[in-house]
Amino acid sequence: MKALEIKKDIYWVGAKDWNLREFHGYATPKGSTYNAYVLLDEKITLVDGVKHYMSREHIERVKSVVDFSQISYVVVNHVEMDHSGNIPEIMKLAPQAKILTNAAGKQALEAHFDTTGWQFELVKTGDTVSIGKRTLAFMTTPMLHWPDSMMTYVPEEKLLLSNDGFGQHLAVDAFFVKDAPFDMVMEYAKSYYANILYPFGAQAEKALHTAGDMGLEIEMIAPSHGLIWQGQAEVGAILGAYARWASGQDAGKAVIVYDSMWGATAALAETAMGVLQESGIPVSKHCLANENVSEIMPAFLDAKYVLIGNPTLNNQLFPRVAGFLTYMKGLGPKNKTALAFGSYGWRPGVVNQIQQVFDELGWQSVPPFEERYTPKSDVREKFAARVRELLQL
Ligand code: FEO
Repeated sequence: MKALEIKKDIYWVGAKDWNLREFHGYATPKGSTYNAYVLLDEKITLVDGVKHYMSREHIERVKSVVDFSQISYVVVNHVEMDHSGNIPEIMKLAPQAKILTNAAGKQALEAHFDTTGWQFELVKTGDTVSIGKRTLAFMTTPMLHWPDSMMTYVPEEKLLLSNDGFGQHLAVDAFFVKDAPFDMVMEYAKSYYANILYPFGAQAEKALHTAGDMGLEIEMIAPSHGLIWQGQAEVGAILGAYARWASGQDAGKAVIVYDSMWGATAALAETAMGVLQESGIPVSKHCLANENVSEIMPAFLDAKYVLIGNPTLNNQLFPRVAGFLTYMKGLGPKNKTALAFGSYGWRPGVVNQIQQVFDELGWQSVPPFEERYTPKSDVREKFAARVRELLQL
């Protein structure tokens, strides 16, 4: 297991998790990576660890460039265990090293691990630590997406070690964005934002402003997941995309999410699709029987209109619809215009539970629409009128 030099004397020492197919509920069809970096300087610095079961690979890569006894600093940018899982092992190998993290990072490390004997140096936004020819400049990014999250900037290299920010759950045979299909990388970066960072748009905007205020010139963004952004065009593209996603600006599209038992709710979804298409609104339709919730969320970044359909089961929300609503509500998309619809056999009203989620999210909406059993043509026409009403909002 060899390290990869990404800049002179700066090495990638992470691990690729090719077989990962699920990350706390987030489908990861192309796996993920846990990127960590070593900076060879007067004070040798390791930035971030990896998930516990990838530790051997990570340690071998570090050892291919430096002995652990020579490491002066271990930067912990974020304590979620995909990056800190093997920090205890690292600290056993490098007990002389000082951990550079922020106050929330120290608290979180203490809550996760036995930190007895670990040395800490706490940093906050604007603090710098010289490691020789280079400097580490820190920017805390609280709640982007944990209280402890921060980024480390190396001004002499114009390098931002951004941890989760700008990452992608993607394990491919490349390390740099330029060596993979650009649209695919952007798609995975968008999915990462939609499923991990969506609730924290305000914090993302603040971080982008802080980076501007600090006058950070960035030529390379090396995140802790996926591929490295290099050069003005790639760095500009991902920063621009984050600015757009964080602003909550949609692209005027529509998204229909539904499930169906015997085709009634599917028929209503199809009716809605037809109306939206006739109205010239780009729309995507997602049946929860076929897609993981995390595959659907990127469409919410672009959607102005959200339509959610439910088939009633035992007087309850259909379980996959209930699961989707819980997941989506947690991510908290803002400023949507919504319509709840569904079908029932003998007791109406369950669709109101979807409406309640819309209300809790502060979305505007038209009244929910429910039909008993299979919607005939007159019912479908009534539903089409309700969808048109939605488009008038
Ligand atoms: Fe990649 Fe929030 O951990």
